[in-house]
Amino acid sequence: MYKHVLVTGGAGFIGSHTVDLLISKGYKVRILDSLQRRVHPKGKPGYIPPEAEFILGDVSSPKDLYRSLRGVDAVFHMAAYQDYMPDFGHFIHTNTESTALMFELILANRLPIKKIVFASSQAVAGDGKWNCKNHGEFWAEPRPIEQLETGQWEIRCPTCKRECKNVLMTEDICRPITTYGISKYAVELLAQTLGKKYLIPTVCLRYTYVQGPRNSIYNAYSGILRVFAMRILNNKPPILVEDGMGLRDYVNCADVARANLIVLEDPRANNEIFFVGGGKAYSAIEFARTMLKVFNSKLEPQIPGIFRVGDTRSTVSDISRLNKLGWIPKVSLEKSLAAYRDWLLTQGRIEDVSNEAMKNMIRQKVIRKVKNI
Ligand SMILES: NC(=O)c1ccc[n+]([C@@H]2O[C@H](COP(=O)([O-])OP(=O)(O)OC[C@H]3O[C@@H](n4cnc5c(N)ncnc54)[C@H](O)[C@@H]3O)[C@@H](O)[C@H]2O)c1
Repeated sequence: MYKHVLVTGGAGFIGSHTVDLLISKGYKVRILDSLQRRVHPKGKPGYIPPEAEFILGDVSSPKDLYRSLRGVDAVFHMAAYQDYMPDFGHFIHTNTESTALMFELILANRLPIKKIVFASSQAVAGDGKWNCKNHGEFWAEPRPIEQLETGQWEIRCPTCKRECKNVLMTEDICRPITTYGISKYAVELLAQTLGKKYLIPTVCLRYTYVQGPRNSIYNAYSGILRVFAMRILNNKPPILVEDGMGLRDYVNCADVARANLIVLEDPRANNEIFFVGGGKAYSAIEFARTMLKVFNSKLEPQIPGIFRVGDTRSTVSDISRLNKLGWIPKVSLEKSLAAYRDWLLTQGRIEDVSNEAMKNMIRQKVIRKVKNI
């Protein structure tokens, strides 16, 4: 059905696993990647297969993007700027503008692109929906900083202020609370609106927390897996924000690559949005303990009374929509972490830069301390 596929961000974590799977299934693959220094400080990764055509370029450059789009019939748009820092313009420029530009170039040059799969994110759903025993479901607002400064972490009912329970996130929830989330929500809106208008089928995949080998050890956005690994390998305990009880779901990169191909190949996915998650909730403490076990460490997680501004409390996705297309996550968290550990141990000495990163985030007021501790 499709023969030649462009993967933007194909040198990155999810992109490269998608490239490998595409090649193994007989697709011709082209990669457009700028080899962002914050992700690839050592240059082009050795895992990029020689069969893939590699274009070094920027997704927000009309020239680079046009050159990459010419001659392909499907696209995975995976390249993105991801961070926790307040450089707001970057998110919109790289993630959203490039999406609009892609449609612009396809239309202007009548490029015969038959389908585009966009990497969206759970960040689109923000804090999601919560349920109050007395007042039912409501869309959560970000927790006020004054609340977090007193060490009260749970989302409260806007009416009776009682602590509530989180509801599994479904695709109808769109309430981003970070610029990154807003940039991805705008990607979804552009994909759905322009895709339908100009008859270019699109699919948006809201990945949750993707885990596994090639998740850049240099990229600050690689999240707790990277930070915990850096610390554990340097014999320092993992540090948890809030009380370590916030919930997340984690999904393996191989499962994500499979989901990518399923939605590419199945026309029932056209013009839809799907969560791609692990199907199981873990608290941050459970995650840290699982990781310590997999890394064979006797350290204990630390909870020093800090929080990250803009963090969601508990985000667990409902993956039933994608299940209906025959996809289920197959790799357990333990196996995912073990595969990451094995890969990490082939990467030479892993320096722990978490203390400097923490100091920088405290300086920028991204990480703050609880006042009464
Ligand atoms: N990893 C996760 O847990 C996760 C979760 C939700 C959504 N996502 C989304 O999935 C996609 C892939 O994420 P990832 O974890 O593989 O990230 P990654 O950083 O490993 O890969 C992104 C790749 O894009 C490239 N890139 C960045 N800016 C570019 C630009 N302007 N032009 C061309 N290339 C550029 C980078 O060099 C990198 O190789 C992203 O869109 C991300 O927002 C990832």
